[in-house]
Amino acid sequence: MSVYTNRESLLATLKPWRKTKTIGFVPTMGALHQGHLTLVNAALKENDCVVVSIFVNPTQFNNAEDLDKYPRNLDTDVALLKSLGENIIIYAPEASDLYGDEITATDYDFQGLEHEMEGKHREGHFNGVGTILNIFFRIVEPDNAYFGEKDFQQLQIVKKLVEIENLSVNIVGVPIVREESGLALSSRNERLTETQREEAVLISKTLKKVKQQYSSHTISELNRFVKETFDKNDQLALEYFEIANEKTLKTATEKSKNKKYRAFIAVFAGEIRLIDNMALN
Ligand code: PAF
Repeated sequence: MSVYTNRESLLATLKPWRKTKTIGFVPTMGALHQGHLTLVNAALKENDCVVVSIFVNPTQFNNAEDLDKYPRNLDTDVALLKSLGENIIIYAPEASDLYGDEITATDYDFQGLEHEMEGKHREGHFNGVGTILNIFFRIVEPDNAYFGEKDFQQLQIVKKLVEIENLSVNIVGVPIVREESGLALSSRNERLTETQREEAVLISKTLKKVKQQYSSHTISELNRFVKETFDKNDQLALEYFEIANEKTLKTATEKSKNKKYRAFIAVFAGEIRLIDNMALN
């Protein structure tokens, strides 16, 4: 396993492989947990080698403090990846290797996907995600790239990015990995206090209840149920809960037959923002 910090040396290794090997790609911002390792394992199964990028991308943060406090553990990340196998290449560059002198984001039109949910609360976030992934895809030129469904909106936007940028990579979505308690794994969980971690279980518990009640309740009843559940909790503050069409990500007010719906939620535990989602039908 090798760790590269600049694109020239990464390309020197990848170039001859492109002719004979399939390349999987798992982009990450580091602070790796079992959710990331599941993505890497899926990629290892389906490709001859896997590039894992570790880069905390500044253009996708709309809050300087959040960027500053984002956990960074390169040595631990490298050790974890080493334990998964030989055919992994780590690319952990500085911003200048990716962006050059100007760290700016492209203004994308993701055909409305970017204006829903996370887009309403994190101004410019998806332009930053699209920009960095377009840069990575053009460097790595992977056959397949792997994304967790925890960031379901991101997954849909990445599929749109591939269309817009006319890239030939196949995008693979991988189901959410949860702790035994139900809490969705996230690098941000590292920052939770013991109490916040216990309370945060309410997020997945509430989504499960919504799923159970989905066929017998209206969408406004389910919205009210979630709001009341979080109003009663003084450790967690609900930022949004929405039931949305899985494809368009548009907020649903009524259920239509033959359409797939998903519940999406964002909650603050103190200053730590947690998101989760669950398929409903
Ligand atoms: O999901 C993430 O960790 C990031 O948004 C990604 C895809 C690595 C882009 O910076």
